[in-house]
Amino acid sequence: MTDRYLDFANSPLGQRLLAALGLPQPAPLRRWQPKSSEFPGPVVVGGPPDGALGEPIRRTLAAWGAPLFSEAQGAAPSGSAHALVLDASGIVAAEGLRLLFDFFQPRLRSLAACGRVLVLGRPPETAVAPSAALAQRALEGAVRSMGKELRRGATANLVYVAPGAEEALGSTLRFFLTPRSAYVAGQVVRVGVPSNGLPGAAWPADAARPLAGRTAVVTGAARGIGAAIARVLHREGALVIGVDVQAAEVDLQRVCNDLDGRALPLDITAPDAAQRIAERAGGRVDVMVHNAGITRDKRLVNMREDQWQSVIEVNLAAQERITERLLAAGALPPGGRVVCLSSIAGIAGNGGQVNYAAAKAGVIGLVQAYAPILGSRGVTINAVAPGFIETQMTAAIPFAIREAGRRMNALGQGGLPVDVAEAVAWLVHPGSAGVNGQVLRVCGQSWLGA
Ligand SMILES: NC(=O)c1ccc[n+]([C@@H]2O[C@H](COP(=O)([O-])OP(=O)(O)OC[C@H]3O[C@@H](n4cnc5c(N)ncnc54)[C@H](O)[C@@H]3O)[C@@H](O)[C@H]2O)c1
Repeated sequence: MTDRYLDFANSPLGQRLLAALGLPQPAPLRRWQPKSSEFPGPVVVGGPPDGALGEPIRRTLAAWGAPLFSEAQGAAPSGSAHALVLDASGIVAAEGLRLLFDFFQPRLRSLAACGRVLVLGRPPETAVAPSAALAQRALEGAVRSMGKELRRGATANLVYVAPGAEEALGSTLRFFLTPRSAYVAGQVVRVGVPSNGLPGAAWPADAARPLAGRTAVVTGAARGIGAAIARVLHREGALVIGVDVQAAEVDLQRVCNDLDGRALPLDITAPDAAQRIAERAGGRVDVMVHNAGITRDKRLVNMREDQWQSVIEVNLAAQERITERLLAAGALPPGGRVVCLSSIAGIAGNGGQVNYAAAKAGVIGLVQAYAPILGSRGVTINAVAPGFIETQMTAAIPFAIREAGRRMNALGQGGLPVDVAEAVAWLVHPGSAGVNGQVLRVCGQSWLGA
């Protein structure tokens, strides 16, 4: 649905009026478009010349033809920068945090609209000395705060890279430094070494179609976020199998036909759902996206038992059952990917959604519990937790609550289904083997829950 405030805020009259009234002025976000540049402006990489991550970052970006400026070589772009990237992995004590100030303070003002701040550090839990652990943990506060200070659609994020995972950063840089991550802000993610050492971090032969030759199953694909995920995974080269309830079959067929995919009308709570998914996929599910979800909102005191049961069943129990059975049947091959849709309601809690928030928090538990189990087989499992995304689900929210939901984030607007889909595409990329057990919020840095 259209966001009239966003449109008005970017009209000449709206810009003047909102500035005069001191009201929020959300900027139109630059999203990935075919043929548009991945790097709309210079990328400045900073950090010590001997930093562990600087060299792999520069090499990766140079291979993509990014307009790269290296602080170590004393180079600086003349105009505004699209991205400011800092290798902070070498900070091992509180005094070293000065590097953040020295790098960002003089440059933030010239960051372009929809620009990127990306800090890369070491996971604090891998630090040997307490001083290094606290210094690396401090990066979180700095990045989340920069995210709240940035304007004009710019974002800040932090990636902790485990020792040994330096060469596994390609897909993560491709996501966080380009318009694919338009609505991802204030996030902290970890890239580790794949637990079984399988060659999942290999860069695909066709960079534009990294999922070529892979089969991706997307539940709830008839509309909203699920349809967007199906489209983006198709764009990335996958054969898409869309699943949705019988009642949505017409829409499901339309989406799947457009993508040369296959439709599977199926209620995911059916006892034989996993078996039917595996059969439709020819016994091999390279990518499983558990997107289907429902809400049955009521304050707990007014909630009926069936409203509780159905939400837990669709949003959580079915995801677990299908994952477990696909695994047991050997239908998730090495290099496989599972992504589960959670929600910021499952992180922050939400009045009127005790059932939904329980299920969505359970999804995070599911991902964290299964990550080591799947990881030992070369499969990853991660969660995406959307904030306010413009879909039929959120169009059903009463006006005042909907408007508050849209504005209560650093970007001052709701996200689009494609923003969630791009996050899923990052997680299922063949180069994302080191990203396992993570929860990525796609929420524009929502004020709720962190
Ligand atoms: N829209 C948001 O702002 C938002 C925010 C946080 C999380 N999410 C989550 O993202 C996912 C997609 O949300 P959406 O906004 O696109 O919802 P939506 O209601 O627009 O679409 C959900 C789809 O899932 C299908 N579905 C429901 N039950 C099913 C079942 N038993 N079997 C098969 N298919 C079933 C529906 O028919 C529908 O096509 C959900 O898991 C939702 O909880 C959405």
